[in-house]
Amino acid sequence: MNETGQRIASDGFSLDDEQRRAIEHERDHYEQPQAACIEALKIVQRRHGWVPDAAIPAIAQVLGVRPADVEGVATFYSLIFRQPVGRHVILVCDSSVCFLNDFEALREALSARLGIEFGQTTEDGRFTLLPVCCLGACDRGPALMIDDQTYGPVAPEDVADLLEGFS
Ligand code: FES
Repeated sequence: MNETGQRIASDGFSLDDEQRRAIEHERDHYEQPQAACIEALKIVQRRHGWVPDAAIPAIAQVLGVRPADVEGVATFYSLIFRQPVGRHVILVCDSSVCFLNDFEALREALSARLGIEFGQTTEDGRFTLLPVCCLGACDRGPALMIDDQTYGPVAPEDVADLLEGFS
């Protein structure tokens, strides 16, 4: 709903009251509403698992910014997913330090275990596998993140046990 009592919707996507209030709360924290874009996108992603295109204008409307501003942030920030993902997202760091610390062996072990390549989701919808830039855990490379938790160093032989903990 907006100030005139209309529900904020776009192409079948709508923000419910809880999401709208959370985005307004973030917006009111900043002098410039654009600064709240990333938090607003995270709010939508937490609810839906990813951010559909139609969410962009809905978020922009609440923030009072241009949809292009929200789109720009959503495109730039690799932890915002623009397509449906599995229940758990595995982000494998392919930046320099991890790359030099057996990234390729880790990637191969993950692909072999899951039967998917980067950009794909397992048939059972359990995991999506994606590359990502530096996770800030360079001293623990090769590193990866599953959902919000960072792991490292992860040896190829650790992969099976690590994945076992996610249903
Ligand atoms: Fe991989 Fe920084 S280079 S966490």
